[in-house]
Amino acid sequence: MMVVSIGFYGMSTFEGPMMSIKAVNSLSHYTDWTIGHVHSGALGWNGMITFGALYFLTPRLWNREGLYSLKLVSWHFWLATIGIVLYAASMWVSGIMEGLMWREVDANGFLVNAFADTVAAKFPMYVVRAAGGLMFLGGALIMAYNLYMTVKAQPVKAAVNANNFVPAE
Ligand code: HEM
Repeated sequence: MMVVSIGFYGMSTFEGPMMSIKAVNSLSHYTDWTIGHVHSGALGWNGMITFGALYFLTPRLWNREGLYSLKLVSWHFWLATIGIVLYAASMWVSGIMEGLMWREVDANGFLVNAFADTVAAKFPMYVVRAAGGLMFLGGALIMAYNLYMTVKAQPVKAAVNANNFVPAE
């Protein structure tokens, strides 16, 4: 999860400066491209690093033998990774498409597309976005259950110094 988070950190902090270039921002501003950028940062980078940290910290903070289920961690990992890739990729496609549609003019300089045309054209990408978002959310719910069960059902870790072992001076 931390490796994926670093990948998304690199991606969103590369994308950000690119979007701050005037010529690029004139296309991306107000479109779903910004939404894709936000979520690759917020879910891919911040979300994944937080999940990794929670899985590391919970057994240690509650002094438990380990996580309740590594299989569930694996499910969460793949749901979150595939979910955020679907989400970000669909927003890139829909953002660039609507940006191009908004600026399209005919030979007389009139706008070719109405706002509602861009909304209709984006519909398939919104289905992919919803699927990706639900996968990401599903993964987070699996994590919540796994961490709850770790605290509730996992045995307490045995004390390291149980035999009254006194280390040599
Ligand atoms: C070097 C790093 C980054 C730079 C230079 C950068 C730059 C930008 C730019 C140019 C925009 C588009 C603004 C617009 O057109 O209105 C934007 C939007 C945004 N970015 Fe980044 N970004 C970076 C990294 C990140 C990361 C890592 C996150 C999240 C963790 C993030 C969160 C956001 C948010 C929430 C918006 C939407 C702001 C709004 O529309 O009000 N950015 N960023």
